[in-house]
Amino acid sequence: MRNIRNSLIALTLSTLFATSVHAYSQQERIEDMRMMEKGLQMMQKGFLYNNLSDIEAGAALLKKHTSKIEPPVDKETDAFKRSYAYDLTKREAKKIINFADDAVAKYKEHRPKQAMNSFTKVLKQCMTCHARIRKW
Ligand code: HEC
Repeated sequence: MRNIRNSLIALTLSTLFATSVHAYSQQERIEDMRMMEKGLQMMQKGFLYNNLSDIEAGAALLKKHTSKIEPPVDKETDAFKRSYAYDLTKREAKKIINFADDAVAKYKEHRPKQAMNSFTKVLKQCMTCHARIRKW
């Protein structure tokens, strides 16, 4: 009996520890969002000044922070209410990363118009999510 109780306590503690380690705070989200915006600005500057290294550095910064974002809703509640905020976030993040890669690749192939198209699509994904947030 005592063993069972001890292992239950251990399990509860490890669960608590795991959730506290993985919790994504609003402060972190805001920080990631600001870095994403900075990455986009660097990319835009690179396009305007014809500077590939700025485009690449901006895309890298954007991707690094986009890969970390989580929505401002509790995961359990999200699943229970079927609001799919986590699914949407994963989907939008993936699109942002792919379009950023496309923009860099097209620019390297000397196709600046197509690169701009992909860049615009990145911005579109940002807005898709921001429009949706008002309901979260
Ligand atoms: C998964 C949905 C989602 C996506 C995709 C997303 N955002 Fe956000 N964004 C948010 C949320 C949620 C907030 C509100 C942050 C908060 O207060 O918790 C926010 C806030 C912001 C802010 C304001 C931060 C501040 O200082 O208050 C900026 C800037 C921003 N996002 C930029 C971007 C850019 C640039 C992109 C695209 C590259 C992007 N976001 C994509 C969800 C998203």
